[in-house]
Amino acid sequence: MKCNIIIFFCIIDIVHSQNNTKNSASNAADSFVLACGSSNDATDENGSKWIPDNKFLISSSNSLPTIAQSQDPSLPSIVPYMTARIFKSESTYKFSVSPKFRYWIRLHFYPSSYKNFDLSNSFFSVTAGGFTLLNNFSAFITAQALTQAYIVREFNMIPINSGNLNLTFTPSSTYNDSFAFVNGIEIIPMPEIFQPVSLVGFSDQQMDTESYTMQTMFRLNVGGQYIPPSNDSGFSRTWFDDAPYVYGAAMGVTSEADKNVRISYSSDVEKYIAPVNVYSTARSMGPNSTVNKNYNLTWVFQIDVNFTYLVRFHFCEYQLSKVNQRVFAIFINNQTAYPEADVIAWGEGRGVTVHKDYAIHVNGKSGDDQLWVALHPNVTSKPEFYDAILNGLEIFKLNDVRQNLAGPNPMPLPLKLETESQQRRPFSQSKSKNHGIIIGSVLGALAGFVLVVGFVVFLIHRRRRVDVEMSSTSRCLSIYRYSQSSGTRTTSKTSGSSRISNKGGGFCRHFALAEIKLGTDNFNESNVIGVGGFGKVYKGYIDGSAAVAIKRANPSSEQGVHEFETEIDLLSKLRHRHLVSLIGACEENDEMILVYDYMANGTLREHLYNNNKPPLCWKQRLDICIGAARGLHYLHTGAKYTIIHRDVKTTNILLDERWVAKVSDFGLSKTGPSLNQTHVSTMVKGSFGYLDPEYFRRQQLTEKSDVYSFGVVLFEVLCGRPAINPSFSKEQVSLADWALVNLKRDTLEDIIDPCIKGQITIDCLNHFTETAAKCLSDSSIDRPSMGSVLRHLEYSLRLQNNSDDEAMVVAKQKPDNDEANAMHTTLLSIEEEDKICVESEEHSARR
Ligand SMILES: *[C@@H]1O[C@H](CO)[C@@H](O)[C@H](O)[C@H]1NC(C)=O
Ligand SMILES: *[C@@H]1O[C@H](CO)[C@@H](O)[C@H](O)[C@H]1NC(C)=O
Ligand SMILES: *[C@@H]1O[C@H](CO)[C@@H](O)[C@H](O)[C@H]1NC(C)=O
Ligand SMILES: *[C@@H]1O[C@H](CO)[C@@H](O)[C@H](O)[C@H]1NC(C)=O
Ligand SMILES: *[C@@H]1O[C@H](CO)[C@@H](O)[C@H](O)[C@H]1NC(C)=O
Ligand SMILES: *[C@@H]1O[C@H](CO)[C@@H](O)[C@H](O)[C@H]1NC(C)=O
Ligand SMILES: *[C@@H]1O[C@H](CO)[C@@H](O)[C@H](O)[C@H]1NC(C)=O
Ligand SMILES: *[C@@H]1O[C@H](CO)[C@@H](O)[C@H](O)[C@H]1NC(C)=O
Ligand SMILES: *[C@@H]1O[C@H](CO)[C@@H](O)[C@H](O)[C@H]1NC(C)=O
Ligand SMILES: *[C@@H]1O[C@H](CO)[C@@H](O)[C@H](O)[C@H]1NC(C)=O
Ligand SMILES: *[C@@H]1O[C@H](CO)[C@@H](O)[C@H](O)[C@H]1NC(C)=O
Repeated sequence: MKCNIIIFFCIIDIVHSQNNTKNSASNAADSFVLACGSSNDATDENGSKWIPDNKFLISSSNSLPTIAQSQDPSLPSIVPYMTARIFKSESTYKFSVSPKFRYWIRLHFYPSSYKNFDLSNSFFSVTAGGFTLLNNFSAFITAQALTQAYIVREFNMIPINSGNLNLTFTPSSTYNDSFAFVNGIEIIPMPEIFQPVSLVGFSDQQMDTESYTMQTMFRLNVGGQYIPPSNDSGFSRTWFDDAPYVYGAAMGVTSEADKNVRISYSSDVEKYIAPVNVYSTARSMGPNSTVNKNYNLTWVFQIDVNFTYLVRFHFCEYQLSKVNQRVFAIFINNQTAYPEADVIAWGEGRGVTVHKDYAIHVNGKSGDDQLWVALHPNVTSKPEFYDAILNGLEIFKLNDVRQNLAGPNPMPLPLKLETESQQRRPFSQSKSKNHGIIIGSVLGALAGFVLVVGFVVFLIHRRRRVDVEMSSTSRCLSIYRYSQSSGTRTTSKTSGSSRISNKGGGFCRHFALAEIKLGTDNFNESNVIGVGGFGKVYKGYIDGSAAVAIKRANPSSEQGVHEFETEIDLLSKLRHRHLVSLIGACEENDEMILVYDYMANGTLREHLYNNNKPPLCWKQRLDICIGAARGLHYLHTGAKYTIIHRDVKTTNILLDERWVAKVSDFGLSKTGPSLNQTHVSTMVKGSFGYLDPEYFRRQQLTEKSDVYSFGVVLFEVLCGRPAINPSFSKEQVSLADWALVNLKRDTLEDIIDPCIKGQITIDCLNHFTETAAKCLSDSSIDRPSMGSVLRHLEYSLRLQNNSDDEAMVVAKQKPDNDEANAMHTTLLSIEEEDKICVESEEHSARR
């Protein structure tokens, strides 16, 4: 309820400020929003209009419009990404602009597959108004390095006196067959929002930033959430969560302005600077002065060297109201940018927005390609609290003397098992290895006893409590999602009975109960394919032929209607090749039913052991692990908010008819099991052996808990045995413990699944087990991120394939199914499809 009200206030503010901006800027000058390669006007997800680009092209003879051949599920909108224009030689767009305005230039790139064009050959430069924006740019490499499906580059261009803005795309001449491409172009006028700033380290020098063209490097809503372009205050900027950039474990605390604090702007211009949502959330150091005195609240950014950067800090003090209560120093790259920042003194009151800019030059010494921003309480000015606060942060790169803004393509991350403890060192982290081992073995021993059932029930309860304690912001989010979904559903009802497409992103089809009954033969028991905490799962058919999995809530299920609806809305927005897609839902006569894609090959577990199915070969297992890792990586980072699965295990990794791994049951896992006996015992066998030991100790669930569970999955796949098997000797009960023991003793080979033992090359095995073992690190900080796990699994596969190339040339020559390949090749799954081994094809044939 409280949350609702806050959001309500925000909406009013946004509408208000958007109106203001539109009137001041666009009355005087035009915006150009182009969907390149499109022949018609089109609107994106949020109703913004994009127009065709051809009439702005000076000569279009050497360019051609084209359509992407596959749609990555993480694209925010079809428009403008699914169409593109390809340039085979230098080509120029011309826009008539007002000489009075600075302009935002946004370029959208979706390096997918386009007919007859190999994106890995595309290197090109982009210039505008005499400035080089991009040079030797490869959208393909950049997207791969950032593990993103699409790239947006944003610049702001100084006013062009001639009134003509030329935007030129030039394919690189150093590569044969090189070409340039672009999917979307936005040219949006803006008032001047930069003033001269002082250069850090040279207190007497001012930089006249008004004469610089800039590239936006980072734009963060500190302590808050992702803000989509549609919610910006007029410039359709995107603001991201800052948490991934915070250095080490010293995350500080986040907060949100109380609903009765009014955020006020000191002038009209300020309203474009950042939306209210940025100022109404913040990150500060924490409640304990002693702790705060001993650490810096630090953010670290990857940047290009030999450029000057403008760092813009957004502040709004909504908790305190007096001068000298919270005074802190601001450091950039270990130099003092400002010694005693006092937001109240700057803003002259509570809730007043302030922004401060500092410029810093970053020289080209090797290893200097990071920008550090740090805050620390200034003790000498004796403030009431030793604390610091930040609400928003933007980092812009300024053009150099050659009017250049282009940096090198980012390097795909190095293949070394980097963990957080190596990458970023927390300020105080006492390692408790011994402690962990003791708990681990106690658990292992416990598992043999009947006691365990009660223990697990206790755990489940605890787990619920953790869920409830999750930050209030995440609860706000759910409520917002819920209210939005009701709108979506009404519209989709009228859209006829065509099967829901993945296109819209957050689109959930409504089913009538009659349709579901028809499709499942009135919930015929013979169609039951599984039973879970939520209720029974049926195989069914919709629209006459499409096979689906239908989850019907047990009437005694603890999940409430409201929760059910928020879940639907969350799930229907998550689209990824490696996540089981929710197709729709039915809510009628007290029935709560979810409809998912049907996974023909069932769970991963049933193909590993205790089943009569033919064993999967090693490469196929590796493929499945890579797919599942991708799905989890997407949950952790690809969606707009981090989603922790909480219940990663081999029964939650499903396989479709082409053996593509799909992670299932995310989101729903937190509803927990109903308390009937069978399910609790499943918990003992399943989730129990997968549980992060740190979660026990700290009762804190992080995405690293998923990494731990995934490590168990990797060993399960390698060893072909359950995570917990109480019938084994004490030492062997827990697979996680047993695998680590054997790894240490160098006897791992003894516990590998005999069905695949001969197939694994030694390099591949070593790399794979090293990765899996890292995942099982006792302390979460020593575990790799899911993204890193993914890269290492891919590397393991490469190691395996390298030696197979030498040994089994024949197998390689099997023709690939090209068409199907093209359909499924998305940027993030380039190496996948062609690795399905001979054995797997036999499987499918038998089925
Ligand atoms: C938008 O601006 C117009 C003109 O200034 C004004 O009449 C209108 O009330 C404004 N709308 C909102 C929602 O503020
Ligand atoms: C459209 O708006 C919704 C809700 O405001 C937001 O979640 C989404 O990211 C927006 N999409 C784009 C492409 O701006
Ligand atoms: C833009 O391009 C046109 C045609 O190539 C050229 O005549 C004009 O001088 C260019 N304008 C600028 C500002 O470079
Ligand atoms: C590019 O093409 C030229 C002429 O066809 C050829 O001589 C040269 O070897 C090619 N270069 C590369 C890098 O393929
Ligand atoms: C975006 O704005 C809409 C209304 O303009 C609001 O309902 C929604 O909560 C906002 N979304 C975010 C993520 O701020
Ligand atoms: C602050 O932290 C220090 C060191 O961790 C601790 O000794 C002290 O009790 C804490 N103070 C408060 C008020 O919690
Ligand atoms: C700032 O100092 C820290 C620790 O002293 C060091 O690790 C880091 O590299 C420095 N950063 C820069 C940009 O000099
Ligand atoms: C905070 O950062 C500044 C500048 O890099 C450094 O001088 C100071 O020692 C740091 N303080 C702590 C407690 O790390
Ligand atoms: C705190 O403020 C004083 C007074 O301006 C200044 O001399 C001192 O350097 C500041 N301390 C830090 C750590 O910046
Ligand atoms: C940066 O500039 C310095 C001095 O001009 C040069 O030695 C260095 O190679 C440059 N670094 C990069 C990455 O271009
Ligand atoms: C262009 O980029 C590629 C990939 O980052 C790099 O290998 C190559 O050296 C670059 N070429 C030039 C001329 O800078």
